Order: sequence, then structure tokens, then C-alpha cells
Amino acid sequence: MLQVVDKSRLISHSFALTSHTKHVVRKLSDMAFCFSRGLAEDKDPIIYEVFENQMRDLSCAFTRILPGKIGGEFFMTKGHFHTDEDASEIYHFLSGRGLILIQKDNKCKALEVEEGQTLYIPPLWAHRAINIGNKVFSFLAVYRSNVGHDFDISKKGFLKIAVSKKGKYCLKDNKG
Ligand code: 6PG
Ligand code: NI
Repeated sequence: MLQVVDKSRLISHSFALTSHTKHVVRKLSDMAFCFSRGLAEDKDPIIYEVFENQMRDLSCAFTRILPGKIGGEFFMTKGHFHTDEDASEIYHFLSGRGLILIQKDNKCKALEVEEGQTLYIPPLWAHRAINIGNKVFSFLAVYRSNVGHDFDISKKGFLKIAVSKKGKYCLKDNKG
């Protein structure tokens, strides 16, 4: 039998914003250690926000990363591993231009993404999203509610950093 879906239960951009179960705001002061020259700043801008909806076994999170740079390095998320070794994740991009860094062992890959694209992130790969454009870069993430988040990599840093060069982005080795 066909079931009518209550509109308020649909996973969508507006649902994520209006009916979240958790809202995280990350300012520079929460993550200055992620940027190679973060501590030199005297302002404390919002870098990104996450609105999460936990729905039983599945969760959906809407992330919006503001446009901007800290010491030439683009605004980005802290980045994490999922602690559950079987936990993969889907990202669907809603606005702006971004770069997704994924890292496992000593391999670090950068994937350029834009609105309308969908990305599968396999288990055991750390992931970080970077806004390389001049508008808000936003996306929906869908994952099992019990994936677990390990942020240790945000302290050590990913192997690559994305810095601005002549109006574009360029990837550099992270000299930590
Ligand atoms: C997740 C997703 C995603 C991510 C946010 C913020 O596992 O929940 O990867 O929703 O958490 O984009 O990034 P950080 O968790 O790295 O701060
Ligand atoms: Ni994740």
C-alpha cells in the first residue's frame, strides 16, 4: 500500500534547518589548531554550522561552511574518522564549491565537488570538507546513527591543506 509521507519528516534542506535534534556552531576559537596559521587572527568568525537530525538508526546532518580564509587556508570542517569500522556515509552537495579530503593510512585524496553531486565515503577513511568558493558551501550527510566520531585527526591535521593562490585553490603538504 502506498504510504503518504508527512512532509515534516522528509529529509530536505529545510527539514534539516527547522527540525534538528542538535546544532553545532564552530568558531575559529574552537578549531584554531586546525589551521596552520590560525592563532595569528584577532577576530573569531563562525567557520561552519551543523544541524543534525537523528531518526532512529539513520541520521542526517546539514553542514554549511562559510566562505573565508585563515592565513590563506580556506574555511573547513574539523574532520574525523568514524569509530565504527563498517560505517560509510553519503554526502549530497546543495550549494557552493568545495573540496572533500579523504585520508587513510598515508593516502590523502582531494575531490572537487559542487551543487547537485553525491559522494560516497567508504568506511575507514577520514573526511574533511573545505569551502574553496566565495559562497556558502553546504551539503547533507546521511549515516548510521551509531557511527561514532573520532576527531583526533583534526589535531594532527590531514596530510594536505588547501590554500588560496591567484584566486584559485592549491593543495600543499601539511608541514604541521
Ligand atoms: C558526519 C558527517 C558530517 C560532519 C559535518 C561536520 O559524520 O556526521 O561527516 O555531518 O560531521 O560536516 O564535520 P566535523 O564532524 O568534522 O566537524
Ligand atoms: Ni562523517
